[in-house]
Order: sequence, then structure tokens, then C-alpha cells
Amino acid sequence: MDKIIRLNKKYTVELTIVDFESEHQGDRKNNITKQDMKIGIKNRFDKGHEIFFGYKHNNELIGYATLKPFFPGYNHCEMYWLAVKKKYQKQGIGTKLIKYIENYANKQGFRKIYLYTGKDMKDTRSFYEKRGYNLVNEFPDYYGYKSGNKTAVLYCKKL
Ligand SMILES: CC(C)(COP(=O)(O)OP(=O)(O)OC[C@H]1O[C@@H](n2cnc3c(N)ncnc32)[C@H](O)[C@@H]1OP(=O)(O)O)[C@@H](O)C(=O)NCCC(=O)NCCS
Repeated sequence: MDKIIRLNKKYTVELTIVDFESEHQGDRKNNITKQDMKIGIKNRFDKGHEIFFGYKHNNELIGYATLKPFFPGYNHCEMYWLAVKKKYQKQGIGTKLIKYIENYANKQGFRKIYLYTGKDMKDTRSFYEKRGYNLVNEFPDYYGYKSGNKTAVLYCKKL
């Protein structure tokens, strides 16, 4: 059975596995380890800036997305994270997570949702563009990667 549920910090290890197994381009190029990822997720829960939603297939967490319920502008918010385990990609799960976040944000009264992604992430950018996200701007040196393209592109969708 598949369902999307709200996640708390008890899911830190399972979220780490999703990040690791999603094989994000930037993580791979920069040799980011599983332990780095676990610390990253722990820090994000400690900051408390994100609402985490996970996609469960039977009892396995196979993807997640997060919403930051604030972004500069009038009733704007940000989809901060989206990842699906590689072996479950291209089955519509990323799309379901995006729709869930958009619907949640809309119900909360947000007008626009923004997201950043890597300028060189061609497939990811076309994935967002096909789902109604429009390019707003680009930001050189946005990411703290040690190597590779650090430029981010900002996308927006009207809810
Ligand atoms: C980006 C990401 C979240 C997409 O997740 P996903 O679950 O593969 O997304 P979907 O399956 O909904 O869509 C991916 C493609 O598969 C296609 N697809 C969906 N269901 C399908 C199916 N049953 N059979 C074949 N293809 C299918 C979709 O049409 C889509 O292609 P399109 O963009 O040309 O329309 C995933 O690739 C990922 O985790 N990447 C690594 C982390 C990352 O880059 N995150 C974003 C950084 S900002």
C-alpha cells in the first residue's frame, strides 16, 4: 500500500537512505557520504524550517519532499527538497510528492511556490518545467559544493 505521511526526526535514518539512494548529481560529484547526509538531515530538523512529507511504499520510505512555509514575497513558500530512491524513479512518485506539497501549500493560503535547483541539472530542470515551474533567475555561487557548477536557478509556480 502507498501513502504520503508527515515525517518527524524519528525518520532521520530512513531519510538519509532516501538521500543516499536518490543518487543526486551534486552529492555524487562531491563525494558526500551517508554520514554527511545524516548530519545534514539532523541539522534541518533542529532548525525546524521545513515540513517533511514522505512517500511510503508498503513499509519502506522511498521518497520525500519538504516545504519551507516562508519565502520573500506576499504569501510565498518554497519547496526545499525532493528525492526519490533511484530504483523507484520514473514511476510517478516525484510528481505525486510535488502535487501533494502544492496542494498542502495551496490549502495553507500560499499564492506561489518557489524552488532552487542546479543550473546544470538538465533533467531535473525539464522535470520541473513540465510540471508548470517557470524560470525566475539564476544565482552564481549559491551552492556550497567543493567542485562543479555552484550556480542555482530559481523556479516559481503560481498555486
Ligand atoms: C527529480 C526526482 C525527484 C524525480 O522523481 P521521479 O519519481 O523519478 O519522478 P516521476 O516518476 O514523477 O517523473 C520522472 C519522469 O518519469 C516519467 N514517468 C512517470 N511515471 C512513469 C512510468 N510509470 N513509466 C515510465 N516513465 C514514467 C515521467 O513522465 C517523468 O518524465 P518527464 O519529466 O519527461 O515527464 C528524482 O529523479 C530524484 O530523486 N533525483 C535525485 C535527487 C534530485 O535531483 N532532486 C531534485 C533536486 S532539486
